[in-house]
Amino acid sequence: MPTPLPIPPGAVTLAARQRNVTLTWVAVEPPENLPPFLSPEEQAQLARLRIPKRRGEWASARWAAKQAVASRFSPTKPLSLFPQDELRSLPSGQPVFAQPGLGVSLAHAGGTALAAVWQTPETLPPTTLPGVGIDLEPVTPVHPALEAMVFTPLEREWLADQPERASALLDLWCVKEAAVKALGQGWSLPYLAVTARPLKNPFSGAAGPHDGEWQGEALGKPFRAWSQGTLAHRSFRLALAYLTM
Ligand SMILES: CC(C)(COP(=O)(O)OP(=O)(O)OC[C@H]1O[C@@H](n2cnc3c(N)ncnc32)[C@H](O)[C@@H]1OP(=O)(O)O)[C@@H](O)C(=O)NCCC(=O)NCCS
Repeated sequence: MPTPLPIPPGAVTLAARQRNVTLTWVAVEPPENLPPFLSPEEQAQLARLRIPKRRGEWASARWAAKQAVASRFSPTKPLSLFPQDELRSLPSGQPVFAQPGLGVSLAHAGGTALAAVWQTPETLPPTTLPGVGIDLEPVTPVHPALEAMVFTPLEREWLADQPERASALLDLWCVKEAAVKALGQGWSLPYLAVTARPLKNPFSGAAGPHDGEWQGEALGKPFRAWSQGTLAHRSFRLALAYLTM
């Protein structure tokens, strides 16, 4: 049975604690290896996914989300009872829990799935839940041509000054992607409609080796974000963003 990966210390976990967000990481497993935990509707959704990698990521992210709910609210409840905690996807792709009162954000990359779960006022409909978004990216080179497309002139100016440019670029990207997830829009938004700048530069040495604090706007809505360098034994950049109004 898959067990959650160790939670690393750092900016993102600190931010999650401050915001009362439960984060759970799991290694991506083929869905066939996971015990039954999906609702009939989730099983039907999984059955529509044809690509094995996608099936594994999709199922593992839901496993992570349900683990987060279990660890937070009912540590003694067997996970086999978790089909009732159904996750749905809105037409935008945003995941939501079927029952009100819980928010969720998911990310998967490089053999790891990450879920964030938090409590929300029960009276709000899912599309207006106060937004939290997470993103996770393996450390891989980004083609320079993409930079002009996805980063604003101010962001590129900041990047140009960074000694650890590749890592800085990935952090900035993760922060922007976490913000569009917090907004529930994904990249249906133009890249340049989301801007971020560091409050505490991850690469200045002032914070931990790669822990950063950010602020920005997504479609004019302000957000705060945190980025972090590595996740357990793997090399990842990850970020958590939340809307401040
Ligand atoms: C959301 C998005 C930024 C995710 O980026 P990615 O690097 O491909 O994948 P990640 O692993 O980081 O995240 C994937 C998760 O993001 C979440 N997600 C997808 N769309 C989302 C949205 N609009 N808001 C919040 N979260 C979203 C999903 O939970 C998804 O996992 P799942 O498919 O297993 O449920 C990207 O998929 C995207 O923007 N897609 C386009 C969406 C779009 O344009 N929709 C318009 C439809 S009208």
